[in-house]
Amino acid sequence: MSDTYTLYNSTVMDHFMNPRNMGDIRDADGVGEVGAAACGDIMKISLKIKDGRIEDARFKTFGCGSAIASSSMATELIKGRSIDEAMNFSNQEVVDALGGLPPVKIHCSVLAEEALKAALEDYVKRHPEKATQATKAAPVAQVAHAT
Ligand code: FES
Repeated sequence: MSDTYTLYNSTVMDHFMNPRNMGDIRDADGVGEVGAAACGDIMKISLKIKDGRIEDARFKTFGCGSAIASSSMATELIKGRSIDEAMNFSNQEVVDALGGLPPVKIHCSVLAEEALKAALEDYVKRHPEKATQATKAAPVAQVAHAT
């Protein structure tokens, strides 16, 4: 195994090598696509939302192993959450669930948070009547991108 792999723990490697929820949702209710200025990687998350809860979440990521693992874990974590709960989702949850990421790779998990919030914002744009206090208070355009 190459030295590169020693950067990542076994959970990160599992989600990188066997990503969950990869792909698109054909008739998604919200789609968010974001890019990391620092590295040029791109992440897209699409959501199926039913009765105010995330029924399904899928991703497509053009990026590093940490970004792929982060998107895989993020889509696992957010299924079943309400819109408000998802708006409060933080990249730290991804990092914790993955058992940690190298400091230089934390921004990859931030990308997952941003893509999720962009997808939720897209959902609210399509269904303004579904806006909640959380979605009104935290528009995606104001989400900071830490590197
Ligand atoms: S190095 Fe850019 S998302 Fe991982």
